[in-house]
Formats: sequence, structure tokens, C-alpha cells
Amino acid sequence: MKRHPALVALSREHHTALSLANRVRKAAATGDAELLEAARAEVVARFETELEPHFAAEELSLLPELASAGEIVLVERTLDEHRELRALVHALASREAAPEPAQCLGDFGALLAAHVRFEERELFERAQLLDPDHAGMPESPAVPS
Ligand SMILES: [Fe+2]
Ligand SMILES: [Fe+2]
Repeated sequence: MKRHPALVALSREHHTALSLANRVRKAAATGDAELLEAARAEVVARFETELEPHFAAEELSLLPELASAGEIVLVERTLDEHRELRALVHALASREAAPEPAQCLGDFGALLAAHVRFEERELFERAQLLDPDHAGMPESPAVPS
């Protein structure tokens, strides 16, 4: 299904997230210390600048709309996966907590890829069906009282 404009930016970010996930999985599979360190550093940096803001945008706009429409299972799964991905990045960022970087990076890459596919195939599809005019976006800017 063609994406509603409100979801297009998030969908575009999913493409870059998927390519990051694939690169990280490949690096994890090599077990090469230099590639692992480069992948670790890239994940930590890009999580802060790209993925965390993307998660926050979903949590602030899309998920509350789906929750109020009764889509609790989809919303809970999304939040659980965000939590898990944040925990993996936290472990990667504090090296002492990640004695097995290949395992941690492999888990992160696999979960990120699965998360993106779930959102594209289930979450966003549902959001469009629920409210094709305003999926994931407030109707008007908030007016200060
Ligand atoms: Fe997400
Ligand atoms: Fe997403």
C-alpha cells in the first residue's frame, strides 16, 4: 500500500535503518576486531542522531493514536522492541557491559531489521487503515493556552 505522507518520512528512515542493520550483521559475522569496533562505534553514533529521534517520533505521535484506537498489542510490541534496542545500544556504548561485541551487534542488527519489517508490514499498514487522513500526525499544531 502506498504510504500516507505522514508516514513517508518514517518509512524513508526505515530504509537507512535496514541498511545499517545489514552492515552490522555482516560485521558481526566476520568476528574481525576492527570491523566490530567500527560497527560498534557507528551503531552508538547513529542511534543517538537517527534512531533515537525516530523512536521518539513514533512514540509521540503514531503510537498514542494507535493505542487510542485499541491497537494495544501492536503498540506494546513496538515499545518492547524499542526498549530492547535501546538496551543493546546502551550495552554497546559502555564497553564493559558488552564483553561479547559480536553477539551484541548480531542481536542488534537482527532485532533492528525485524523491527523495521514489523512496522512496515503491520504497524504502518494498520495506521493507514485506521486514519488515512491523519495517520500518526496531530490535526493541527498545539496552541499554547
Ligand atoms: Fe520503531
Ligand atoms: Fe520505525
